[in-house]
Amino acid sequence: MKFSSFMYLAGFGVKTILFRQKKPILGTVIVTDKCNLHCKHCSVNNITAVIHPYGQIKQEMQQLYDMGVRILFFCGGETFMWQDSGRNIRDLVIEAKQMGFMIVNVVTNGTFPLDLPEADLILLSLDGDRERHNAVRGDTYDRIMENIAAATSDNICFYMAINQINKTAVRDVCALARDTKNVRAVSFNFHTPYPDTKELALSKEEKAQCCEDIKYMMKQGAPVFNLKSAFRHLINNSFPTPCHQCVVMENGRLSTCGRCIDVPDLCSQCGYFFVAEYTLLFRGNIRIIFEMLKTYLKYI
Ligand SMILES: C[S@@+](CC[C@H](N)C(=O)[O-])C[C@H]1O[C@@H](n2cnc3c(N)ncnc32)[C@H](O)[C@@H]1O
Ligand code: SF4
Ligand code: SF4
Repeated sequence: MKFSSFMYLAGFGVKTILFRQKKPILGTVIVTDKCNLHCKHCSVNNITAVIHPYGQIKQEMQQLYDMGVRILFFCGGETFMWQDSGRNIRDLVIEAKQMGFMIVNVVTNGTFPLDLPEADLILLSLDGDRERHNAVRGDTYDRIMENIAAATSDNICFYMAINQINKTAVRDVCALARDTKNVRAVSFNFHTPYPDTKELALSKEEKAQCCEDIKYMMKQGAPVFNLKSAFRHLINNSFPTPCHQCVVMENGRLSTCGRCIDVPDLCSQCGYFFVAEYTLLFRGNIRIIFEMLKTYLKYI
């Protein structure tokens, strides 16, 4: 991260904490909900299967920038399926950087060739070892590993959603993140139980065990892009929700925090680590502030 970006983000953090501001800093643009997979835990794929046009995405990016957003995520559906008038997801990343976003990340299922050196992080969903990943995501593990080996940059961060199917594979994914070329880190979420995937939710005890596994692997040198100080809040769902510093834009509609904001009773069961990490940070939690500084400077 550039020093000027770091200073800008630090200044935003200080103002937010001191004046209890609710201005956003992190934005996500959903480029399409079309997807080539139908993962067992996912409730947001292929609802419309529309690929949003380039002009619309550009306008949405500009709107977020004008609101003060400086950390941008592209998400889907499958982001690598996005294309319009000869442009693809890489062109969107380059454009976002030119627009002035300081950190630009792309979330992907990793089943398409990975040529995205301009992104700060490619968050690549890996949901376990071969057996458990494939149980969640269909027979894709080997293709993903081939794409990682052939990637043109080393900015990949595994992104694992932990649920009933893969809860015992946390250590495998940590070890793989540590030992695989082109992979910089791993970041976790707990399953957020939408009404159609409630059965995949973890109990408090299961979440606690996963956090123990993550902590153990951190001690073994695994590069984990999450904050240990937030774990107990994630286990107990005791962090504040929603995150007012995060917004999502999907097809012209702006939501605070996540596109899931309108799903009844979901926020009290939220499993997204970034929500816990950001809300605790902007409440001025000292341990989170120091850990966030250390972690972000290490991986971005
Ligand atoms: C919706 S996908 C879109 C991007 C891309 N298709 C992918 O799979 O990475 C974004 C991330 O959300 C995760 N996810 C989907 N449903 C979830 C849920 N109910 N709870 C937690 N994470 C979830 C996926 O595993 C993935 O890492
Ligand atoms: S690849 Fe991503 S968007 Fe597609 S079904 Fe799986 S989690 Fe959902
Ligand atoms: S806090 Fe609510 S809106 Fe935000 S990600 Fe969690 S479930 Fe979605």
